[in-house]
Amino acid sequence: MELMEIIQKRRSVRRFKSDEVKSADIIEMVEAARLAPSGSNLQNWHFTAFKQKNSIKRIADAAIDAMEEIAGNLDAVNKTLADKFRRFSKVYTFFFAEAPALIVVMSKASALTGFKEMEEAGLDASRLYIKSPGMQSLGAAVENLLLRAFDLGYGGCWITSANYADTRIEKILREETGFDKPDYYMAALIAIGVPDDDAKPFKKKQIEDILTIVE
Ligand SMILES: Cc1cc2nc3c(=O)[nH]c(=O)nc-3n(C[C@H](O)[C@H](O)[C@H](O)COP(=O)(O)O)c2cc1C
Repeated sequence: MELMEIIQKRRSVRRFKSDEVKSADIIEMVEAARLAPSGSNLQNWHFTAFKQKNSIKRIADAAIDAMEEIAGNLDAVNKTLADKFRRFSKVYTFFFAEAPALIVVMSKASALTGFKEMEEAGLDASRLYIKSPGMQSLGAAVENLLLRAFDLGYGGCWITSANYADTRIEKILREETGFDKPDYYMAALIAIGVPDDDAKPFKKKQIEDILTIVE
């Protein structure tokens, strides 16, 4: 497929057929991620693809436990918010339990250029955190991965809403795969599979709303 057609047709997929995601295809997807640009060419990413139902269920259970712990604590303070969190999580997080493949995306913090210098100069550098080049690099890699997944006939969904379960999921990852990079942390999950829905692409902003050309 042409690049622009892939970009136009890609959409988030949250319901999957039971078809296997072939390991050779996962390699292709991560190959696309591998070639993404990254700040200082740090390539601050690692992808672990789980295909076994048991492992995916273990990760989903860990996320559900973490969500219930938060919601349980919240119940006494704000029951409405706790219930909203539970409903949101069901739709936008735990669907990954049924995905034929689940990729755990690990990342590493990268230096914020100018941060040290600003701090030393007595200037407030805290606003640089939200512009983290490390996270921007990771975004480039994940999008490449998702575009290639679509190109290969799969659908996927980028998931950050389980990040509150990060330490639990990292523990599973380290136990099941021996992942041993201590400075890497969980940044996202990606659910992958053959789409089993007929959802339409989400409405996007118009070009004039997001682009200014100064000629
Ligand atoms: C950084 C990031 C985090 C996201 N996290 C979630 C998530 O936790 N759960 C979910 O269902 N979708 C998640 N999405 C998918 C978005 O909801 C989706 O991209 C958006 O609604 C636009 O739809 P589209 O991907 O079909 O164009 C995420 C997307 C991005 C880029």
